[in-house]
Amino acid sequence: MKQYIKVDGWNIIEEGFVPHYNKISESIFSLGNGRMGQRANFEETYSGDTLQGNYVAGVYYPDKTRVGWWKNGYPEYFAKVLNAANWIGIGIRIEEEELDLHKAQVTHFSRILNMQEGYLQRSFTATLESGKQVKVTATRFCSIVDDETGAIRYSITPLNFEGNLQITAYIDGDIKNQDANYDEKFWEETGASIQHSSAYITLKTKKTGFQVCTGMQFNVYQDTRPLAINVRPVQKEKYVGVVTTVKVKSQQETVIYKYAANLSSENHPVEALANNCEIAVGKAAAKGFKAMLKEQAAAWAIKWKESDIIIEGDPAAQQGIRFNIFQLNQTYTGEDARLNIGPKGFTGEKYGGSTYWDTEAYCIPFYLATAEPQVARNLLIYRYKQLGKAIENAAKLGFNNGAALYPMVTMNGEECHNEWEITFEEIHRNAAIAFAIFNYIRYTGDTAYLAEYGTEVLIGIARFWAQRVNWSEARGQYVMLGVTGPNEYENNVNNNWYTSTMATWCLQYAMDALQHVKETAADRYDAIIKTTVFDAGKEQEKWQHVIDNMYYPVDEQLGVFLQQEGYLDKEQILVKDLDPAQRPLNQKWSWDRILRSCYIKQADVLQGLYFLEDRYDIDTLRRNFDFYEPRTVHESSLSPCVHAILAAKLGDEKRAHEFYLRTSRLDLDDYNNDTEDGLHITSMAGTWMSVVEGFAGMRVRDGQLQFTPFLPGKWQSFAFNIRFRGRILKVKVSKQDVNIENDSTKDITVLIYGETVHVPAGATVTAKQGNLVN
Ligand code: BGC
Repeated sequence: MKQYIKVDGWNIIEEGFVPHYNKISESIFSLGNGRMGQRANFEETYSGDTLQGNYVAGVYYPDKTRVGWWKNGYPEYFAKVLNAANWIGIGIRIEEEELDLHKAQVTHFSRILNMQEGYLQRSFTATLESGKQVKVTATRFCSIVDDETGAIRYSITPLNFEGNLQITAYIDGDIKNQDANYDEKFWEETGASIQHSSAYITLKTKKTGFQVCTGMQFNVYQDTRPLAINVRPVQKEKYVGVVTTVKVKSQQETVIYKYAANLSSENHPVEALANNCEIAVGKAAAKGFKAMLKEQAAAWAIKWKESDIIIEGDPAAQQGIRFNIFQLNQTYTGEDARLNIGPKGFTGEKYGGSTYWDTEAYCIPFYLATAEPQVARNLLIYRYKQLGKAIENAAKLGFNNGAALYPMVTMNGEECHNEWEITFEEIHRNAAIAFAIFNYIRYTGDTAYLAEYGTEVLIGIARFWAQRVNWSEARGQYVMLGVTGPNEYENNVNNNWYTSTMATWCLQYAMDALQHVKETAADRYDAIIKTTVFDAGKEQEKWQHVIDNMYYPVDEQLGVFLQQEGYLDKEQILVKDLDPAQRPLNQKWSWDRILRSCYIKQADVLQGLYFLEDRYDIDTLRRNFDFYEPRTVHESSLSPCVHAILAAKLGDEKRAHEFYLRTSRLDLDDYNNDTEDGLHITSMAGTWMSVVEGFAGMRVRDGQLQFTPFLPGKWQSFAFNIRFRGRILKVKVSKQDVNIENDSTKDITVLIYGETVHVPAGATVTAKQGNLVN
């Protein structure tokens, strides 16, 4: 745990240069706009420890897997979002010396991520070996208005000399993924051009054949006037740059503006890439840095209006939650249904930038409540479009008749991870995808989604479950063998309660969906039956039989659902009785020992109780929570939020807050010593859930919003903005009151602590905490 980030409501601030923290800060200060993103690398050369990272959404490479004994059914590749061309590069030479913070003496260093307006600013004073001193302020952003462009303002002022300043503005495409399995380079150059102060390079990925044209244009100002510069092109393999030398005087500021664009063949015809890139760069340069930044701030103001959380009385918590919301909004904007949310977003290479069940289980609620319905809908459509591949995935494993198994890790719908037990056997992801459809419709009321897209997906998923169970003669029930639940510290188990419960839930939901479509959209029903070759009578009869005869492990004496068959055979030593020196288990214990232990990596039974909470009475929730929580080590950042929400529901406000604290500043404080790999983007959505579903108790039942709020810890108040069915609401919970402001033109009726409250358009209503006032 580190605490070097200065607490501030709207800014993330680092003061002082600690090379040892550089990779952590590169992750924390990352920028993105849903279409591209980058780590907070330096513009000028840095020869110290760094992970250079630029990423273009949707551009991936199928790296060869590393598997000892290949078996049928293993995926052929391990896909990763590629580290792409570095467009921020501005090399600075002062006379004969290169500006490199690894070699210079650095003072007055600061990095500020301005979350309100969406830009990064870095300042420092560097003393070179020769004693020459320069002051630099670099500001940059990835535009959320023109999401293929970015801009940099790089200001440099000599403090004690005059002479020549050589500037090289460049794009470096000779980039390698640090996590490449065989140290291969994945890009090859297909074209490059340099025209005066602009340069363009097109790179193509091997195998997948994606092409990305990255372009830049720069200009130089002194005394607020543009300089007519002499330029010299530099071209090397996968590299284009432009060099200019300007005379500088002591205390005279030189400002370099660099405009860049990243265009991918996913969005442009290959033959038009270079030309369109030139247009995009030209447009940015014509608009100018100041105007672009102004637009950026205005666009972020709208995002904050919909998604901000305001906490009074705890500045560190305020900064933590805003940081999470900021990063989520930088990662996914919902504008493109081909894109998804990698667990590390655009902030690092780990998890390959692929799509996991994290999206459906943890991220959907955030985007549902903080953006137009289209945003979450596009995440669902992403899976709809991959239904064919999910059917192929299942067929490769021996399933038939249109059974669909969505991948645990994917780029294009194909499974692309290389661990069997932990990853492939986590077939529970299929259920999260069905649950996301349910969750989306529950929140938005968009039941038409079922006829349009949802039901086909649900049929594929239901068919998979109906084939994945088998009839046990011995039990006279259906069982589900050889699975891994969300708790990855148990592999290849039989009858995982969560998986079996969610499987039958999916079967029932698929039948409900079919019935709904039959009643409301007969034509679509007929079309779906035809496309899916669905034998409505026979197949549903089987589904019903599975629902009625499924085996779920329970312990009657303890009154708890059993995570899986045989869980109680394990030695039951609680986490509190474990020597803290033994943790985290995944770093201290052998895998063999972990698998045999009773310790739970992340919510498993409790994940099911969270999803399906309305099925269970409060005593059942409490018994299971009290049993599993003391056995959970939360070694996945996705775990504490589920515990926070359940603790809040059980009235344990103190513990709800404690669970929240485990993830709220996870990356800002480098809680798990792994922030340098990238940020935990998907768990950030879980932190948001802890506040809104946990502390505010927000639920949607029968189309109505409900709240049962309490004020955690030392907070004086908290407020959050949400969208709900055409309204923008601001919910504020303070010591005495709960206020709901309806900032829209439509009235709404909500439930607060079980009482109906009408909130007219434009009005604010107040209820007493725990008791209704008016
Ligand atoms: C978790 C998974 C998750 C993955 C990616 C793992 O550590 O156990 O549930 O999908 O990380 O975030």
